[in-house]
Amino acid sequence: MALPALLSDALALPVIASPMFIVSGPELVIQQCLNGVVGSFPALNARPAEQLDLWLTRIKAELAQAKAADPTRKIAPFAVNQIVHTSNDRLQQDMETCVKHEVPIIITSLRAPNEVVKAAHSYGGLVFHDVTTIRHAQKALEAGVDGLILVCAGAGGHAGTLSPFALVGEVRRFHDGPIILSGAIATGSAILSAQAMGADLAYIGTRFIATKEANAADAYKDMIVGTSASDIVYTPYFTGVPGNYLKPSIVAQGLNPDDLPHADKTKMSFGSGTAKAWRDIWGSGQAVGLIDDCPPVAEVIARLTSEYAQAKAALCAR
Ligand SMILES: Cc1cc2nc3c(=O)[nH]c(=O)nc-3n(C[C@H](O)[C@H](O)[C@H](O)COP(=O)(O)O)c2cc1C
Repeated sequence: MALPALLSDALALPVIASPMFIVSGPELVIQQCLNGVVGSFPALNARPAEQLDLWLTRIKAELAQAKAADPTRKIAPFAVNQIVHTSNDRLQQDMETCVKHEVPIIITSLRAPNEVVKAAHSYGGLVFHDVTTIRHAQKALEAGVDGLILVCAGAGGHAGTLSPFALVGEVRRFHDGPIILSGAIATGSAILSAQAMGADLAYIGTRFIATKEANAADAYKDMIVGTSASDIVYTPYFTGVPGNYLKPSIVAQGLNPDDLPHADKTKMSFGSGTAKAWRDIWGSGQAVGLIDDCPPVAEVIARLTSEYAQAKAALCAR
């Protein structure tokens, strides 16, 4: 099935820049959209909740201004990520703000997003739900989502364990709508591979942490640049849900990454008492070994675009 026109006509590259807790804010999202890839942020990054209205007003105004200045420019739509879980007491209020602003794409995580789908469809918005298993993919489709984000092994943050070959292949047996693939995608050839495998779009997080516009400490950005796949630790210890984190950031908090105690799912907390997941323990996918610098977003996207074209030409020439 073809991608919705909202996406097929507006993207310079088949990419959604994924939402990242703390890291993604208006500066990052605006640059991603202006350079032709969907930019996104978790609603919870806008604090207090009233900030969400201001962020959305600013993002829409800056994108509209750029479009007015150059109507032929490909400017991608933006997305807001909603955590669908009882622990998110802002969900209803944040969705009301998204409906008011007619946010083009809502990305949902965790539970099946029934109410969110209803609210987004009321104004013609799209809902993409992220999943790590077939069972969750089926539940999300039953809830009426417009597309599935498959979070595979090696992705930053709360990642799955399945190979993308297995998960994309199985999901394609019962879903011919949009599939967005994630997990250690950080190069143009990886974007092309995602499409060759049967996905429509690549979903990229970690590559955008090491950019000028990301809301991350310099030490975090330097760690992304200075580490490789073997420095990524997959553990449920920090949040109760298995995720990928940078080993040196765990060591810096006085913890032994090779001997973390068992997670206490009920507390969603962890050992050192003062350190916090995401703020002090830094999330990252396995693609860190492919990231060597921290340029502006525009440069990252220009590079991905040229790598993508080169990979396509090289493959066709074989
Ligand atoms: C630091 C960090 C924070 C993240 N926070 C969120 C989040 O708040 N909501 C969400 O749906 N996904 C979150 N993710 C997961 C990403 O949206 C995405 O699935 C992942 O980054 C893709 O894999 P990659 O980092 O290997 O490109 C986060 C990932 C990272 C690295």
